[in-house]
Amino acid sequence: EDLTAFIQAMPKTELHVHIEGTLEPEMKFQLAKRNGVALPYNTVADMRASYNFHDLQSFLKIFYEGKSVLLKEQDFYDLTYAYLTKAAYQNVLYSEIFFDPQMHTDRGIPFETVIMGLTRAQADARRQLHIDSQLVMCFERELSADSAMRTLEMALPYRQHIVGVGLDSDEKNNPPDKFRTVFARARQAGFHLTMHCDLDQLETHEHIRQALEDLHTDRIDHGGNILERADLVAVARRRGVAFTVCPVACGWLRQNGENINIVRGMLDQGLKVTVSSDDPAYMKGNYVGQSLIVAQGDAALSRQDLLTITRNGIDAAWISAAQRKDYL
Ligand code: ADE
Ligand code: ZN
Repeated sequence: EDLTAFIQAMPKTELHVHIEGTLEPEMKFQLAKRNGVALPYNTVADMRASYNFHDLQSFLKIFYEGKSVLLKEQDFYDLTYAYLTKAAYQNVLYSEIFFDPQMHTDRGIPFETVIMGLTRAQADARRQLHIDSQLVMCFERELSADSAMRTLEMALPYRQHIVGVGLDSDEKNNPPDKFRTVFARARQAGFHLTMHCDLDQLETHEHIRQALEDLHTDRIDHGGNILERADLVAVARRRGVAFTVCPVACGWLRQNGENINIVRGMLDQGLKVTVSSDDPAYMKGNYVGQSLIVAQGDAALSRQDLLTITRNGIDAAWISAAQRKDYL
């Protein structure tokens, strides 16, 4: 059954989208021109053709090249408003947006510049486009725990603008436990917790275990390899931990020569699975609507499955009980 129209019309949430990953080539050129930054490509087509990666590390290399054009508060505003416009047109009612402050503060851009641009766009989009959003601050896991702690402290004066903290970037030899004290401090300050356990990483099961059992995370981003461990599935199900799966980036698990669809597998296991876009500008422009369409095709999702995913998204969102009731 073709459920494309049903998916398009469905009210949506998105809980896993990196704002820097929504920077489209057109805007990259526009900001480069405005800021007098040189780019290694002459055309949008050449830039898109360079978006060629085969694993997390090769993706991150391309992804980090994009940040050079983001310098001023207005740049962060334009980036965020453009994302929220696209999301609103896809009937996204609510989005939790990841941002990586260290990507910017390490280049000498003040934390305040980043957060003011983002929050001003959120406020305008709330008013003009009727889309609500909150920010989730991610730590870059290949950087030190000290750097993450300093970033957390930098964020405390902006506490009211940030609903949770996450962990992203290069997972190789950077387990969740490396940030145990940082996440404990974040929890104490009232932030919700999530962390990436990307697909097929070294020690992926141990990373998922640490996230669940040692750091008591509220959500896991991706986390598809949990389907290989019945004991961890049981823990996640019991605790109601939500998974933000991105079917365009990480849709399939290879198990004993068989391809297991992750959304299907998580639904079948009774895990709280949600669907998001991750870095849509680097993934052929597949925003959350297209990501749901891909998941529907790959996993033969029924209308009931799609409604379950929608409800899971509302359930897993870091919003008040009153707002949740409003969406249901
Ligand atoms: N940074 C941006 N997108 C990411 C992803 N999917 N995994 C890890 N780090 C990221
Ligand atoms: Zn991600």
